[in-house]
Amino acid sequence: MPKAVVCREVNKPVSVEDVQLEKPRRGEVMVRLVASGVCHSDLSITDGTLPVALPMVIGHEGAGIVEVVGEDVTRVKQGDPVILSWVPSCGNCRFCLVGSPHLCANAGHATGGRLKDGTTRMRDSSGTDLSMMTATATMSELTVVGEESVVPIDPEMPLNRACLIGCGVMTGVGAVINTAKLEPGSSAIVFGAGGVGLNVIQGCALAGAAQIIAVDVVDQKLEFAKTFGATHTINAKELDPVATAKELTAGLGPDYGFEVIGSPTTIEQAHRAIRRGGTAVVVGMGRLTESAQVNALMLAFDEKILTGSYYGGARPLVDFPKLCSLYQQGKLKIDELVTQAYKIDQINQAFQDMEAGKNARGIIQF
Ligand code: APR
Ligand code: ZN
Repeated sequence: MPKAVVCREVNKPVSVEDVQLEKPRRGEVMVRLVASGVCHSDLSITDGTLPVALPMVIGHEGAGIVEVVGEDVTRVKQGDPVILSWVPSCGNCRFCLVGSPHLCANAGHATGGRLKDGTTRMRDSSGTDLSMMTATATMSELTVVGEESVVPIDPEMPLNRACLIGCGVMTGVGAVINTAKLEPGSSAIVFGAGGVGLNVIQGCALAGAAQIIAVDVVDQKLEFAKTFGATHTINAKELDPVATAKELTAGLGPDYGFEVIGSPTTIEQAHRAIRRGGTAVVVGMGRLTESAQVNALMLAFDEKILTGSYYGGARPLVDFPKLCSLYQQGKLKIDELVTQAYKIDQINQAFQDMEAGKNARGIIQF
């Protein structure tokens, strides 16, 4: 029985339990996880920010080795190293066909914590069904997922680095390259220098931004931000980020704004900070019950674009191998992101450290 992290009740510590895992059905694969990143979205399940069906095995940022393949699986074979994707795109819907598989119309089962047939492969010791976060449930020594959820990668790629490509790196770098399509030489402001925000910052650097302004409320995060390419930093507890960003850009405001926290205040700040005709991209996932405001006159007057970016516009089969290759060439910093590796039993510690702002990214190493 594999050990897994189970969230049973919101605002309570998660438990590490031996769970029952069914073998893969048709079109499914069993993956032995090597590492799983600890992302803010995992914490958001435990505190109720993201409402889901509990009890759930959490984790959605993982990489491992295919252990068993079910009938009719063609994408991978036993022994293949894979990164898990938290959007299992069908490949046939309107969105998949126009090159936006991250918006797949048939991936709703994953949001509900179920595999494609609406069931789960995980049960607790008493036989109760456990939902599987994003149909991946990567905070488990072993998982069973649809083949749409696995992306084979170069065997040379270290899996305790590859795991972060499954969420934070893809979401952050993709928001810049796929969603904003940032032009070289541009200026950008990034709100939130956490695990995802640092990847937005390095995405801006990779795309050739000339000026990258990082905003956070924790000085340590702003230090990390510099390592990832920030040219300026603002501690929002000390300075008004909107006014300071304008000063840094000759009074105009940056060309691009990225919000990587998920709070109405910072969404509004990102939108206000950018120049006329600029683009604000919301990457952070806020609460369903909250809204951000835009001024009814200024929206048209300033002609700013306000958009969201989901999973960095990921086309996992195309983008994951590309990101691996950029890491292998030394162009993408992932080693620097992993500031702490935890044992699965230390998951509550990992969440406390996240809330205290200690890590760029923590991972569970199995
Ligand atoms: N202004 C600036 N920075 C802030 C503020 C604020 N008002 N409030 C929080 N922050 C900073 C935190 O200090 C932290 O560094 O935002 C950062 C959030 O980072 P993490 O907790 O590491 O979260 P991360 O995993 O990066 O996810 C960020 O993206 O994918 C979504 O659901 C995820 O909404 C979450 C967001
Ligand atoms: Zn995530």
